[in-house]
Amino acid sequence: MRLIFFDCTFAYVNKDCMNITDGGILELRCAPIECVRIGFVGLGVRAKRAVYRMMHIEGCRITALCDLVKENIDEAVAIIAGQEGGTPAVFTGNEGWKQLCEAKDIDLVYICTDWSSHADIAVYAMQCGKHVATEVPAATTIADCWRLVDTAEATQRHCIMLENCCYDEFELCTINMVQQGILGDVIHAEGSYLHDLRERIATNDNGERKWSNWQIEFMNSHNGNPYPTHGLGPVALAMNIYRGDRMKSIVSVSSIRTGDMEGLNGTMNSSLITTEKGRTILVQHCISLPRPYSRSFLISGTEGFAQKYPTPMFAFAPDSESVVTGGACDRIVEEHKHPFVAEYKERGTELCGRRWIDYAMDCRLIHCLRNGLPLDMNVYDAALWSCLVELTDTSASNGGIPIEIPDFTRGRWKAKK
Ligand SMILES: NC(=O)c1ccc[n+]([C@@H]2O[C@H](COP(=O)([O-])OP(=O)(O)OC[C@H]3O[C@@H](n4cnc5c(N)ncnc54)[C@H](O)[C@@H]3O)[C@@H](O)[C@H]2O)c1
Repeated sequence: MRLIFFDCTFAYVNKDCMNITDGGILELRCAPIECVRIGFVGLGVRAKRAVYRMMHIEGCRITALCDLVKENIDEAVAIIAGQEGGTPAVFTGNEGWKQLCEAKDIDLVYICTDWSSHADIAVYAMQCGKHVATEVPAATTIADCWRLVDTAEATQRHCIMLENCCYDEFELCTINMVQQGILGDVIHAEGSYLHDLRERIATNDNGERKWSNWQIEFMNSHNGNPYPTHGLGPVALAMNIYRGDRMKSIVSVSSIRTGDMEGLNGTMNSSLITTEKGRTILVQHCISLPRPYSRSFLISGTEGFAQKYPTPMFAFAPDSESVVTGGACDRIVEEHKHPFVAEYKERGTELCGRRWIDYAMDCRLIHCLRNGLPLDMNVYDAALWSCLVELTDTSASNGGIPIEIPDFTRGRWKAKK
C-alpha cells in the first residue's frame, strides 16, 4: 500500500490494485466495482450521447454531472430521468469539475470537455482516487501526456482514452487476423482522419459556424495533426505497439493552406512514424478538401494486405493481384469476427445506429471495471497516440525534421507481448 499526497483535497490511498511489480501499469488490475458510479464532466454534443448509452448499460449508474452551461446540464438530466438509484448531483461553474472529482460516490470520471482541459481534469480525478475515461485526444502537449502517465502510475488508477475507432468491425477483424498470423509480419500501416468538414467550418453571413469555436481556435495556432488518434489507434493495436514494439521517431509535413477558411494552418498533414523494429506508419489529417471520408486503416504484412477505405478489401500472398472485395470480403470479416462485435453490435445498433462502436467501447469499459480486468487500452496508449498533436506540429513547423517519440512505458513495452 502506498500513500500519495497531491494538491487534491484528499490524499489518495491506493488499496485495491493488483499485480503491480515495478510501478508500470501496462496491465493494471483494480478491485472489481459491482456498480460503476460515473461522473460526467462536459455535457456537449458528444457527452449527451454517452449519457444515453450509459443509461442502457448494466452495472453502472450516473451519479454526477458537470458543465459550464445550464442548458447542457438540463438536457443531460432529462436523459437520465427515471434512472434507478436516484438523480445525479449537479456541478457547475469554473471549479465545478474539481468538486465533481472530489465527490465520494464516483468511481469513474468521464471527460467530454474541449481538448485543452482533458489532462487537467484527468490528473485531478486520478489524484482524487477516481478512474478516468477521457475523450480524444487525451492531451495536446508532451508535458501533459507525461502528467497522465506519471499520475496514473503513482495513483494506480485507470486512465483510458475513449478511442472508439478501435472498436469498429473491420479494424477488430483485421487485428484478429494479425494476431492469428494470417497477414504475416506487419511491416507498414496507415491510419488517417480525412473528413470533409468544410460545411461545418465555414462561417455564415453572421460570422457563425456550425462547429465549436474551440476546435477552430486550436487549429488556428497548430501546424501539424491536431486530431491523430482515430487513425492511429487501431493501427497501433494492429501493430502491437507497446506490446513488443514502440514508436521511435516521426517526420511530419503540412501542405500549403488552401481556400480562404480560417483556422487551418496546413490543409493536409502527413506524418511518417518509424518503430523501434523498423516498421512504418503513415498518419494523415485533412478536414478541408472535398474528398470522401476515410480513416485509411491499411495494414501491409508479409503474407497479406487489408484496407478499409474507400472499399474494404484484402489480398493475400502469393497472388496479391487477386483482390478480395464485396461479398467475399464480407465473408472474411464474418469468419474472423471479433468477439466484441459478436457481443455488442446488434444491441449497439438498436440503440445508437452506426455509432454502435461507442456502445461497444462503453460496454467494454464497464465490463472491465466490474470484473477487475485491465482495460482494452491503457494510459501509455493514451499518451502515445495523443503526443502526436505536439510532435507533428514541431516537426512540420521545422521543415519536417525527424523527432524522437517519447517512450511513455520507460522500456516496459519490451517485456509485453
Ligand atoms: N470519438 C469521437 O468520435 C468524437 C466525436 C466528437 C467529439 N469527440 C470529442 O469529444 C470531446 C467533446 O466534443 P464535443 O463535440 O462534445 O464538444 P462540445 O463543445 O459540444 O462540448 C464540450 C462541453 O464541455 C463543456 N466544458 C468545457 N469546459 C468545461 C469545464 N471546465 N467544466 C465543465 N464543462 C466544461 C462545455 O460547456 C461543453 O458543453 C472532444 O474531445 C472531441 O474531440 C469525439
